[in-house]
Amino acid sequence: RRKVILDTDPGVDDALAILLALRSPELDVVGITTICGNVPVGQATENLFRILSLVDPPRGLLIGQGAAAPLRRPLETATHVHGADGLGDLDQFTNQSGQPRYPRPVVPGRLPSAVETWERCMRTHGPNLTLITLGPLTNLAQALQRPAIVAKGFRSIIAMAGAIAVPGNVTRAAEFNVYVDPHAAEQVLQADLPLTLIPLDVTTKVTVSREAITKLTARARDPVGQFFADATGAALDFADRVEGAAVFPFHDPLAVAVAIDPALVQLVPLHVAVETEGPVALGATLADRRRLRREHQNRPNVQVALRVQADRARRLITERLCRT
Ligand code: BDR
Ligand code: CA
Repeated sequence: RRKVILDTDPGVDDALAILLALRSPELDVVGITTICGNVPVGQATENLFRILSLVDPPRGLLIGQGAAAPLRRPLETATHVHGADGLGDLDQFTNQSGQPRYPRPVVPGRLPSAVETWERCMRTHGPNLTLITLGPLTNLAQALQRPAIVAKGFRSIIAMAGAIAVPGNVTRAAEFNVYVDPHAAEQVLQADLPLTLIPLDVTTKVTVSREAITKLTARARDPVGQFFADATGAALDFADRVEGAAVFPFHDPLAVAVAIDPALVQLVPLHVAVETEGPVALGATLADRRRLRREHQNRPNVQVALRVQADRARRLITERLCRT
């Protein structure tokens, strides 16, 4: 089994990605760390505990709380997409006896930082872990200060981030995780890491409609299926209102799905840089796709998923989230 650490800013699709990872026999989730992004980091941590209360988390799972702010910019959240709590406003749901369906979780008062948690995971499980980042790259950029961790600890890093040959989703140029902390993303890209990007080019192909979610979750008998139906409502309303169709993209679940089955995507080695200054293109991930003679090319710094077997990925994700 592949030992993985998830770094996440839950977020509705993060929540589904975490649940997918925990339900996949191919993966052994040894650590989960939070990062500010969709919501402030304290809320992200509370959300993580709420998500874990839906399942039996693995024994010995290490949990940490990461950065509260991007490296140089003020935090911009995405609660207008994911709901005020980041999870589709879960307090609105009650069970038949009128009790909250998703009670507020107990959150430990003090948690180790993300980087401390990754170190602990490595002490317990050895190096060669896989890190899957589902939020802004601030924690990973901070870990670059401790080369022993990133140089030896991770055999592979899979990051849901960027938009290469498609428009962004926050601005015309930028994908959310890169836009929130472009400086971190640029440092990570230039750090010579075993990095795979899962950008919007592929995640926006793996979607599920409101009707499909209703059908899939109507048959689901466990709390995860119910959560899938409840938590996606606000994001579907947003998509309908703003984008003109009630469709939910499996951004973060696709990054986990690629750790489960790498053959789901086709990877292309590219040199990618991030715009960290410009007002229009802040957070754009610019791949060098010029035709140049070899000696004039930038050496690729990342493997980028540009094609996906969308139906197979969608099936893998939905079947594991909606057990009948
Ligand atoms: C990314 O942005 C966040 O809102 C989602 O959770 C995902 O990680 C998609 O751009
Ligand atoms: Ca996310």
